Amino acid sequence: MSFDAVDVIRTKRDKGELSDGQIDWVIDAYTRGDVADEQMSALAMAILLNGMNRREIARWTAAMIASGERMDFAKLSRPTADKHSTGGVGDKITLPLAPVVAACGVAVPQLSGRGLGHTGGTLDKLESIPGWRAALSNDELMRQLDEVGAVICAAGDGLAPADKKLYALRDVTGTVEAIPLIASSIMSKKIAEGTGALVLDVKVGSGAFMKELADARELAETMVALGTDAGVRTVALITDMSVPLGLTAGNALEVRESVEVLAGGGPSDVVELTIALAAEMLAAAGVTDVDPAEKLRDGTAMDVWRTMIAAQGGDPSAVLPVAPEQHVVPAPATGVLSKLDALGIGVAAWRLGAGRARKEDPVSPVAGVELHAKPGDQVTEGQPLLTLHTDDPTRFDRALESLTDAIEVAASYDRPPLVIDRIGE
Ligand code: URA
Repeated sequence: MSFDAVDVIRTKRDKGELSDGQIDWVIDAYTRGDVADEQMSALAMAILLNGMNRREIARWTAAMIASGERMDFAKLSRPTADKHSTGGVGDKITLPLAPVVAACGVAVPQLSGRGLGHTGGTLDKLESIPGWRAALSNDELMRQLDEVGAVICAAGDGLAPADKKLYALRDVTGTVEAIPLIASSIMSKKIAEGTGALVLDVKVGSGAFMKELADARELAETMVALGTDAGVRTVALITDMSVPLGLTAGNALEVRESVEVLAGGGPSDVVELTIALAAEMLAAAGVTDVDPAEKLRDGTAMDVWRTMIAAQGGDPSAVLPVAPEQHVVPAPATGVLSKLDALGIGVAAWRLGAGRARKEDPVSPVAGVELHAKPGDQVTEGQPLLTLHTDDPTRFDRALESLTDAIEVAASYDRPPLVIDRIGE
């Protein structure tokens, strides 16, 4: 059945409900090029302004899944579980998490993306390991999942191509921040990927997409409902992103910190979140008798990491690259560090070269920000607080500008909980 693009746009512009037929048609026609970018931009803006109800979001997600292939992991000998984070500063959790969960007997097909803006991308981080490659064929992915139990690789072009096209359009038309579009974008890829269980890490705070708890909760509830209705056991944790995770933001810097966690050390917040998400993934996959923390302590998660990196051409023993140019930012006063703003640190890391402004830009493996203290720590005026890393010293000034309001020292600090809420059965 054919519809008219302008009628579909008018329906949503006038706060109407899109019918199932309209949704199926517009997604399919846009993917084929029969609906023009300017028409889809207008529709995305109408959705951003007027929203979609649960039925519309579910149908929109199904239509995006139907635009491409669906993977199937049913033949694997173990259950599968995946994790998706809505993105934050210093969020390297996937790197230790996938090997930990695999070491507990659940396979992790982690199809990831590259970073855009101030939040880093998992593939960019792993590409700082000499030799490691992100692109795997579906056969390679299946073999590695069966033999190693964990794969972190680029999502192929075949999964939800409608989303790929629409996300690129939203990125340049100010329509990324619409909860129905974010939820359907993320869940179409995850459902098409074929994972049996899914744990969502919905970030809230200055360094996240969602700045307000109510928005994070709405996004989490929408995604959990979409996953559950599609037969994927889905839960969400809402976690704090007002402060960067761990002590590093930047590609090689974050790999180094992840390896510390896999070696049984590392910053306590990274360890806490890795264990919390691993426990949820295992429970969602039906495995309740294994302690993920033990797999960090006894070295089996590290064994999986090394095998996983080597299986994709990487050298897990290689020395990671280090920035030739470094600049130390001192503590501005003596007292308790009360603010280290995630957005400010993320933008600084991005401006130092760790992230990209356009999707075709290269990223620097060495650039980023290293933190020497976290909110709640006692600091003394003049002590090193941050080290900025880059290969281009002309970038320091712009990075420092983004830190102007990012740091505060006070008499005390009330630490917010890292895991704020849990949504799902
Ligand atoms: N990540 C996605 O994959 N899609 C969005 O819309 C936002 C974040």
